[in-house]
Amino acid sequence: MRKLTKIDIITRPEKLEELKDALNAIGVAGMTVTQVYGCGLSKGHKEVYRGREVTINLVPKVKVETVVCEVPVEKVLEAAKQACFTGQIGDGKIFVYSLENAVRIRTGEEGDIAIIDPE
Ligand SMILES: Nc1ncnc2c1ncn2[C@@H]1O[C@H](COP(=O)(O)OP(=O)(O)OP(=O)(O)O)[C@@H](O)[C@H]1O
Ligand SMILES: [Mg+2]
Repeated sequence: MRKLTKIDIITRPEKLEELKDALNAIGVAGMTVTQVYGCGLSKGHKEVYRGREVTINLVPKVKVETVVCEVPVEKVLEAAKQACFTGQIGDGKIFVYSLENAVRIRTGEEGDIAIIDPE
């Protein structure tokens, strides 16, 4: 079985469409998107959300979770960095994890074949 990697991208809500398109373009097959609140090293200070400077320390973000095996992790990182970059505080973070297993409930398939289209 090929190695499975889970990648979480937490970024600005207004970057979601661009990020989704960038991931689709490199062949990422599945993703889970959640609206979240968060802060990073800058603790949410000085972040601008919808034109306002946010003084509370939790700022709305989107979290895009994707599991890959065929698409190289580096390619996902490059696509996400390019799509989400503004250069301003709060562009986001990417977390990379080794994933132990995946199960496709309908067929019972496990591991890499659970997330690969057989075509
Ligand atoms: N150490 C962390 N653990 C868990 N989630 C984190 C962590 N750091 C950042 N996040 C998540 O990532 C989001 C984006 O982080 P953010 O871009 O603000 O990071 P930062 O380190 O403060 O960088 P910047 O200086 O660009 O703001 C946060 O809102 C939070 O949801
Ligand atoms: Mg920050």
